[in-house]
Amino acid sequence: MNAATQTKRDFLDFSSLSEAELAGLLALGARLKAELKIGIEHPYLRGKTLAMIFQKPSLRTRITFETGMAQLGGHAIYLAPNDIGIGERESVKDVARNMARCVDLIMIRTFSHETAVELARESTVPVINGLTDLLHPCQLLADLMTMQERFGRELRKLRVAFVGDGFNLAQSWIEAASLAGFELRLACPKGYEPEKSFVQRLRNEEIGTISDNPVEAVTDVDVVYTDTWTSMGREKEAARRRRDFKGFQINDALMKHARKGAIVMHCLPAHRGEEITDDVIDGPRSVVLDQAENRLHAQKAVMVWLLRPDILRIAPSPD
Ligand code: CP
Ligand code: NVA
Repeated sequence: MNAATQTKRDFLDFSSLSEAELAGLLALGARLKAELKIGIEHPYLRGKTLAMIFQKPSLRTRITFETGMAQLGGHAIYLAPNDIGIGERESVKDVARNMARCVDLIMIRTFSHETAVELARESTVPVINGLTDLLHPCQLLADLMTMQERFGRELRKLRVAFVGDGFNLAQSWIEAASLAGFELRLACPKGYEPEKSFVQRLRNEEIGTISDNPVEAVTDVDVVYTDTWTSMGREKEAARRRRDFKGFQINDALMKHARKGAIVMHCLPAHRGEEITDDVIDGPRSVVLDQAENRLHAQKAVMVWLLRPDILRIAPSPD
């Protein structure tokens, strides 16, 4: 057992992070990005192995974790949906205990958040949530990093509108706003709001508002965010969702209500012509490719934090 496993931390959500840890992760991500751009190597995880369990498809999550681990001097193993059959061919507990004997870090993308929680509970090595039906914290870390690049380190003064499905991304936005202190306005069609506990949190902590009115949500905001109307695993509902989400598209007409310098964000993959138009996603306000790239830098910071906590500077100096 090494020092990291004695004080094991996981990265499953934002709720278990302190504000200082969030600031430290964002600062470390920015430093690793700057170093990479000028060719400074940072092999903090030399000889370490990351196992990546995917029960859903992925472009960004896979390539950023795999590339990130290589850039940190380590190695990543990709396990496709049919490879290990977690919870079916073998119990979550047995997968966790076997993996922890050989690898240093586990990333899981799965359906039930409980699977990720159980994996983390049974594993002696840190576990990272690479998306569940409940939350997508890695995406949010990259998104906050992108917002800092555009607006400066102080996130508190920003106003964010999330327009669309109150699913994993929207729920992660509620967690992120709670920790980082910015105002969050959600606009979801009736019947597509986040889970009750998240809506309650939004209200109890006065994080922001929820309505079914995209114009109201977007008025005077700095960031307009959307996600696919049909998430992975819900493909059979696509036709109904296209009808129910009518009027929730991010297009030029809706963007006119946002602040002049507002940016448009999307976690991707995008369904062009549905939740967002070509004009907007390819337009000057769009930062979607910065978000995608920042997955790399933000997740490298998470992996370094989990395995080399000594590297993380918890209290970055103010701007
Ligand atoms: N945004 C995101 O997680 O992308 P992938 O599904 O391609 O990994
Ligand atoms: N809500 C989407 C996010 C994809 C990154 C999904 O779960 O499919």
